[in-house]
Amino acid sequence: MVNIVEIEGLAKSYEKGSVKALDGVDLIIEEGEFVAITGPSGSGKSTLLNMIGALDRADKGKIIVDNHDLLSEKDLSSFRSQTIGFVFQLDNLLPMLSSVENVELPAYESKASSSEMRKKALMLLESVGLGDKADFSPVKLSGGERQRIAVARALVNSPSIILADEPTGSLDSVNSQKIIDLLKDLHEKENITLVIVTHDHDVAIQANRIINILDGKVVN
Ligand SMILES: Nc1ncnc2c1ncn2[C@@H]1O[C@H](COP(=O)(O)OP(=O)(O)OP(=O)(O)O)[C@@H](O)[C@H]1O
Ligand SMILES: [Mg+2]
Repeated sequence: MVNIVEIEGLAKSYEKGSVKALDGVDLIIEEGEFVAITGPSGSGKSTLLNMIGALDRADKGKIIVDNHDLLSEKDLSSFRSQTIGFVFQLDNLLPMLSSVENVELPAYESKASSSEMRKKALMLLESVGLGDKADFSPVKLSGGERQRIAVARALVNSPSIILADEPTGSLDSVNSQKIIDLLKDLHEKENITLVIVTHDHDVAIQANRIINILDGKVVN
């Protein structure tokens, strides 16, 4: 088994060190695993996800993701766009763009031509059941539909890892399960590593493994 994430003694604080968001996290995630991260509000779940996704740099410890040492990696933004697909609680779709343009957005920095990008974005919209809504603005879609577009957008650069922070937090239980089914399907068919932060027990129990965070530490 290949370790796609290797974290040791990882620490991150805010406010000049007065807020210890992560306080010595040790964690290994294997390639192709589906991991749920749970824990109380403020325990450090989003911070941990943001470190794995290189949205921010940790203070100390070791964090290797898909063979990149993130504490010394110089170009975090190209690492991010090549390796990570993000899904957040709120879909963050841009209302002035159509659905298909929103899906294409993370691919603008890649080397793909605009016709390749369009083809892939349309295929992804099909795969989330929204091929017929490609030209609609997200403001004309339901919350569940918007979140499915956000999942398609997370996939446009063919990431090896999907990081989802409360992806179902703003959805009812039916739409919530649709999103989880979509992510699980990707995980099963394409062996994408899936890391989901969730407060929802029904979501967490579907993972291969549940990791509990308390006061900036893994407490399993
Ligand atoms: N940018 C920031 N600046 C200052 N403090 C922060 C920042 N981000 C997070 N924190 C603090 O770090 C700690 C961990 O926050 P984090 O967002 O990781 O928690 P969480 O487990 O995701 O909580 P929730 O379930 O409410 O989303 C909290 O005490 C929080 O207030
Ligand atoms: Mg959070």
